Amino acid sequence: MKFFIDTANIDQIKDAASLGILDGVTTNPSLISKENKPLNKILKEICEIVDGPVSAEVVATESDTMIKEGKKLAKIHPNIVVKLPTTREGIKACVALVREGIHTNMTLVFSATQALIVAKAGASFVSPFVGRLDDIAQDGMELIRDIVQIYDNYEFGTQVLVASVRHPIHLVQSALMGAHVATIPYEVIGKLLNHPLTDAGLEKFLSDWQKTGQKI
Ligand code: E4P
Repeated sequence: MKFFIDTANIDQIKDAASLGILDGVTTNPSLISKENKPLNKILKEICEIVDGPVSAEVVATESDTMIKEGKKLAKIHPNIVVKLPTTREGIKACVALVREGIHTNMTLVFSATQALIVAKAGASFVSPFVGRLDDIAQDGMELIRDIVQIYDNYEFGTQVLVASVRHPIHLVQSALMGAHVATIPYEVIGKLLNHPLTDAGLEKFLSDWQKTGQKI
């Protein structure tokens, strides 16, 4: 399973990358807007830190302009993946960009039918938003289960990228269901290794070791 970080903040990306297990980055216009820096500069910096797919989202809503924006974004770095909304226009732009050899990530996916069309359009990633479904009292993880099953049935090459992750249980369930990728907020990455028994166990090991008076 691949771990992406869901942020455009360079300090957070550097810190997560220092763990040595980060496979990629996802951004979106809201995340970019928090950083007060030009988009191209942010994307170049991210691509220098992480050697993996870096999603950068178009902001046009009409396919011709989406394609133009997508081509501009793809020129920034070979690892850029063009993120497009899963609308009629977004799908048309996806098909056109895929034909040109550009990788795409279809975002704002909330149904299995959207995911099925995304796979048929040849996208590299589909991004179902589990947290935002949970917010409206629909089980986001049920959607992941359905998409993984549908993609397995037809051996689609599109990778299931679980997005809008809110807590570690989303990640555990994604892994159990066989999702290919999860994009995880910085705060959630920080929680993944925490366990009180690990802390207590280490404290006891170290205090017992100190009593021996030995050194390694
Ligand atoms: C995914 O690519 C999106 O950037 C992200 O996961 C959205 O998450 P949110 O619902 O927490 O904004």
